[in-house]
Amino acid sequence: MRQINVVRSIQDMRHQVALWKANGLRVGLVPTMGALHDGHLSLIDQISATVDRVIVSIFVNPTQFAAHEDLDTYPRQEAADLDRLQGHAVDCVFAPTVEQMYPQGFSTQMDMQGPAQGLETDNRPHFFGGVAIIVAKLLLQSQTDVAIFGEKDFQQLLVIRAMVRDLDIPVEIIGAPIIRESDGLAMSSRNAYLNAEQRQIAGQLNGILARLATSGLPVEQAEAQARDALLAAGFGTVDYAALRDAHDLQAIGAQTTSRRALIAARLGDIRLIDNMSA
Ligand code: PAF
Repeated sequence: MRQINVVRSIQDMRHQVALWKANGLRVGLVPTMGALHDGHLSLIDQISATVDRVIVSIFVNPTQFAAHEDLDTYPRQEAADLDRLQGHAVDCVFAPTVEQMYPQGFSTQMDMQGPAQGLETDNRPHFFGGVAIIVAKLLLQSQTDVAIFGEKDFQQLLVIRAMVRDLDIPVEIIGAPIIRESDGLAMSSRNAYLNAEQRQIAGQLNGILARLATSGLPVEQAEAQARDALLAAGFGTVDYAALRDAHDLQAIGAQTTSRRALIAARLGDIRLIDNMSA
């Protein structure tokens, strides 16, 4: 079994990347919160085709969880994650401590606007501020040439692209297609929490999303139909079932050239999200 180099300090990670870059190597970053699944592995495989060295960061970021959310129970399984990385082109894992990332006296917050408005923010107002701060830190700490994010968190991808552009962070952001289970359920670390009955209901999400994306009905009618279908399938709450402008996630208007269908719905305490081109 190959021993993957696990780096825990920002200084060591910077040093490693600087050495690679000094040798003319192109370096890529795959930011994760661990609990790695095939979706993460596909991000690694995709980025490794375009760079010479790959870093996977594993950090459960407290600032993107609200007090009532699952920070304490979010799966932390570093040994299993390192096993999962065997056979994939990973040169280093960056797994810092919370104290490294948020030292005493940490006082910076980010207030994200533009594509951060609505959808996830209506339900998780703290979320994109927390994501933006940790992704900005990881990008500035590592100074990799490229970083990759899954389209499953489509709004997150747009927020990160906007943040990188606005702050002139010199990195290329790649968006990667969603990886799905055989019944269409988008892969997510939170799927592991689903019991058998919930897993069966969750499998209907993608079909409902596809009907929302393709129904051809007026927007409000298509959204209402998707919401009803989710509740009829057994979802307890629908946070949103929406058709939006794919460029900025604002309401569809005369200027819209491409659309995105997005859903967030809950089964008990488990929140599932999915999206597709519409
Ligand atoms: O998508 C995720 O897993 C997280 O939001 C990210 C981008 C790793 C930041 O913590």
